Amino acid sequence: MVKGLSMYLVREFREEDVYDVFRIAYESLTEKYSLELFMDIYYAWPSGFLVAEIKDIVGFIAGSQYNGTARILMLAVDKNNRGKGIGSLLLRKFLFQCKKEGIKSVSLEVRTSNKSAIDFYVNRGFQIISLLDKYYTNGESAYIMWKML
Ligand SMILES: CC(C)(COP(=O)(O)OP(=O)(O)OC[C@H]1O[C@@H](n2cnc3c(N)ncnc32)[C@H](O)[C@@H]1OP(=O)(O)O)[C@@H](O)C(=O)NCCC(=O)NCCS
Repeated sequence: MVKGLSMYLVREFREEDVYDVFRIAYESLTEKYSLELFMDIYYAWPSGFLVAEIKDIVGFIAGSQYNGTARILMLAVDKNNRGKGIGSLLLRKFLFQCKKEGIKSVSLEVRTSNKSAIDFYVNRGFQIISLLDKYYTNGESAYIMWKML
């Protein structure tokens, strides 16, 4: 259950959420993305884009899917709201949605330096399966992580 938080909701992304999602991504993720990219991700798979809302949007998860596999493209929680179970709930609902749509496995890329995110995913059943050398624009490498549903 959610620690220290009662009134919040995870729901599908709506177009008007894009500015909040953009801000959280901008503040939380090293890579910078355009507003249009979020809309493209949404249009490609609307049910794979979820937001957590208290009064405002406090986090989101966005994925893509192809041929029975899904990929988590971004997951971020506003820094003032971390450690309250919001990231876990977003991930759980995303995986639930994947299962509902018959998806069999989920993968993601994470910076090799992002220890807390790697631990977060390992604690939720993901395994590191390979390394992408110099994957990010700043030259950092990524791990590919994977979970069977
Ligand atoms: C990774 C991330 C989405 C997790 O979201 P969250 O809402 O903090 O997640 P939760 O509260 O459900 O769980 C976080 C874990 O860290 C612990 N934690 C405690 N206090 C914390 C804090 N202040 N900040 C982050 N994690 C904290 C939790 O106990 C939990 O540990 P567990 O894995 O042993 O259960 C969030 O830290 C984030 O946005 N990070 C920056 C962006 C990022 O790295 N995204 C992932 C790569 S795409």
